[in-house]
Amino acid sequence: MDLLNGEHAAELLQAQAHVWNHIFSFINSMSLKCAIELDIPDIIHNHGLPMTLSQLIAALPIHESKNRNIYRLMRILIHSGFFGRQKVSESEQAEGYVLTDASRLLLKGHPLSVTPFLLAMLDPILTKPWHHMNAWFKNDDPTPFDTAHGMTFWDYAGHEPKLNHFFNDAMASDARLVTSVVIEKCKGVFKGMGSLVDVGGGTGTVAKAIGKAFPDLECTVFDLPHVVADLQDSEKLKFVGGDMFEAIPPADAILLKWILHDWSDEECLKILKKCREAITDKGKVIIIDMMMENKKGDEESVETQLFFDLLMMVLVTGKERNEKEWAKLIFSAGFSDYKITPILGLRSLIEVYP
Ligand SMILES: C[S@@+](CC[C@H](N)C(=O)[O-])C[C@H]1O[C@@H](n2cnc3c(N)ncnc32)[C@H](O)[C@@H]1O
Repeated sequence: MDLLNGEHAAELLQAQAHVWNHIFSFINSMSLKCAIELDIPDIIHNHGLPMTLSQLIAALPIHESKNRNIYRLMRILIHSGFFGRQKVSESEQAEGYVLTDASRLLLKGHPLSVTPFLLAMLDPILTKPWHHMNAWFKNDDPTPFDTAHGMTFWDYAGHEPKLNHFFNDAMASDARLVTSVVIEKCKGVFKGMGSLVDVGGGTGTVAKAIGKAFPDLECTVFDLPHVVADLQDSEKLKFVGGDMFEAIPPADAILLKWILHDWSDEECLKILKKCREAITDKGKVIIIDMMMENKKGDEESVETQLFFDLLMMVLVTGKERNEKEWAKLIFSAGFSDYKITPILGLRSLIEVYP
């Protein structure tokens, strides 16, 4: 084979670049994580104007021998869409760094900040299992997380307060974003309901926001005992510790946000049957989860869905599902109908009726 022969060489080099980019995809995530840990988005935001390299360096808590490397970190993050460059002012030639929509979502003070989610997903406790996928394919452990850590994700969170806290913070940050959309666009979903149990509701971000928007609704957050242990009840919001595979407190509506994608079909059936037992014939189950193969279908969305599906395989026993798979689960658990509202980008709200 003549490797340097005309077109063939060009194809080979393109293939090599493709392989290199995939080998080094993690550099995008790790550079972003470093920028967040150095507080770069907040520092630029607080500066209020495009921030020159020397101003940024002066504001950073770094060793002076590293000053000359900051432009390299910023260069890759400009390339990946997290920062831009703009003239400092009309009259000056100098350019400074500015935020983009993506880095604005990473500001610590942003009410819908994604930073806790980023820091959780890139914590070594959650990245270690990815090194064990190959071993997991050959053993009978339930997940690569079990292979890496010797126990399930949920048991680890119960024993290790650090994981429990950063995971709950990550979930709460996502919950703020999703709840604000649901409350704005899907008010009707909660109409006629007197009580709601948020199953696997974490530290209560969703239930608190729903309770505030619908003051007549009695809300309960039901989660594992270690998650709700230190949380205080209020008049309209109760925290109950327990196991959803055993029993779920009765209510008009049950919310399952980002719960079923954590579990296999067999486990989801058990959860859904417990939900059916917990609601009356006039009640409903409200699922918020990803819908695979949804209509958006652009390259980036497809990749995000595939990433999440493997994330569910590596950390827990779950998976992402398309409409056919959701329907099969819903009907097998004894429900008679469902309605999908695709309001949350890649995620949908599914109302499930007895
Ligand atoms: C992916 S998180 C979703 C949290 C929250 N619903 C949200 O979307 O922000 C899954 C939640 O299920 C809870 N969970 C796991 N196993 C459970 C069980 N057997 N019974 C009740 N909750 C459980 C976890 O503690 C965690 O809070």
